Amino acid sequence: MHILIDHPCVQHKLALIRNIETGHKKFRELATEITEFVCYEALKNVNTREVDVQTPLEVAKCRMIDDDIVVVPVLRAGVGMLEGILELVPTARVGFVGLYRDEETKQPVAYYERFPPQARTGTSIIIDPMLATGGSTVAAIDQLKEFGAKDIIVICIVTCPEGLALVDKEHPEVPIYTAAIDNSLNENKYIVPGLGDAGDRLFGTSH
Ligand code: PRP
Ligand code: URA
Repeated sequence: MHILIDHPCVQHKLALIRNIETGHKKFRELATEITEFVCYEALKNVNTREVDVQTPLEVAKCRMIDDDIVVVPVLRAGVGMLEGILELVPTARVGFVGLYRDEETKQPVAYYERFPPQARTGTSIIIDPMLATGGSTVAAIDQLKEFGAKDIIVICIVTCPEGLALVDKEHPEVPIYTAAIDNSLNENKYIVPGLGDAGDRLFGTSH
């Protein structure tokens, strides 16, 4: 299942982040801003509890987030979305999955994993700007499920039909929130038109 965040404010920022002229400083800022919007929508159904808050006038019945939220950036590009989520949920815990795509096979290679125990009982949000073939996202979900996580959400910035289809096939109950669903993958399994190599553009490693 996927949810496209088609809001004009998100689409405006997407136009800016895709632009080849956008340097790494601006790219990082835009990744943070887009993530905030997408995350805002993704957390719509999170559990809340009622609390009484004393205002200067009287007691107000308010709601506060009740779930343990665990954010899981997929290293390395997922780190570029972390600040955006922590702006919205400053108390979130953070786990990490280290994965890179083998340049030849395009298959994900796992090199690191560390999750807080709350991932077993709370809501885990996997963040990775690019969901291309879907292999890395499927591997990250596999790792979280093996750890014991039950409630998992994926947030990305750009994806494509091939990647969505793979995640839907392997993990049909995991919702994917995205700001864009592009046309397809090219011969190097890059999303087109996409935005290029997200890790390189975030961290300034391309040239
Ligand atoms: C990118 C991206 C995803 C993966 C997507 O990471 O951040 O993790 O590729 O591709 P997939 O859907 O086909 O698996 P990359 O391998 O470039 O590593 P990096 O973040 O360390 O640059
Ligand atoms: N990784 C990226 O950074 N970009 C893509 O388009 C595909 C994988």
